[in-house]
Amino acid sequence: MNDLNEWSAAADDFTKVMNSKGLFAQFSCDMLDMTIPNVEKSLRVLDVACGAGSLTIQAAERVSQHHGTVVAVDILQTMLDRLSANLATQNLQNVELHCLNGEDMYSLEPESFDFAYSSFGVNIFKDRQKGISEMYRLLKPGGIASISTVDRDWVEYEMVRDAFEELGEKRDIPDEILSKQTTLDDKELMDLYINAGFKSVEIHRSTRVEMMNLDTLIDFFKSPIFAALAEAIPESKRHLILPTIKKQLLEKYKCDIVPFEGTCVISIGTKGNHQ
Ligand SMILES: C[S@@+](CC[C@H](N)C(=O)[O-])C[C@H]1O[C@@H](n2cnc3c(N)ncnc32)[C@H](O)[C@@H]1O
Repeated sequence: MNDLNEWSAAADDFTKVMNSKGLFAQFSCDMLDMTIPNVEKSLRVLDVACGAGSLTIQAAERVSQHHGTVVAVDILQTMLDRLSANLATQNLQNVELHCLNGEDMYSLEPESFDFAYSSFGVNIFKDRQKGISEMYRLLKPGGIASISTVDRDWVEYEMVRDAFEELGEKRDIPDEILSKQTTLDDKELMDLYINAGFKSVEIHRSTRVEMMNLDTLIDFFKSPIFAALAEAIPESKRHLILPTIKKQLLEKYKCDIVPFEGTCVISIGTKGNHQ
């Protein structure tokens, strides 16, 4: 299976967590609070790799007061179908959906957006630089881009490392696996913005917690991100990773509602007014 088929197969389990009122929605709210604390005019907002819309929905609600719009892009129609269903339940009508590769959003008008976001999206692209450069191209002069990612000590990675150890393997997740999911450090992230042409870049962190049903959390681990991590240990032991994580969390919390706490990296780049 290629990565995209894997995303499609995992969509239900994954979007249960990404789309809840929980951790990822809180990170999306942080991104919006840091960039659009108040809406004073009609805004056009882009959400790249929108998934089922943990950011899209909140952005659409926020900009609706001045008749603003959100353009939501994902490479998978299955994700856009979920977003479409979610928008219908919220009765939000100011969102346009486009099935496009975020590395080449050729059909969107250049310099037409006030804000461009990607919540846990661009970091998993084959070519992150293309993704950020496309956001830059589509922003108006003075426009703002914001991307959320995770650090290499992200809670999910630590849970996987703990399971590796219990299974008699090294705690390491090789760099070649992690580098497909997240940047090495803040400098690598900043360079992506600067190389795209952004004039200034800020990096913030936000720590949030969601109390989550243990089985929902374990299902979340069925995403392609997790499948790639499992490749760090021999194939014969990979099927033991999820039961081991579940056992370890049950031992630690003695309850099937567990805290899922994580620190997200929120980067913000501003496009200069004169190119
Ligand atoms: C981790 S999910 C994040 C979803 C959403 N932004 C959120 O925060 O809930 C990653 C999303 O990226 C999409 N994706 C992966 N590669 C992409 C690409 N090259 N262009 C556009 N979307 C892509 C996947 O289909 C998936 O919906």
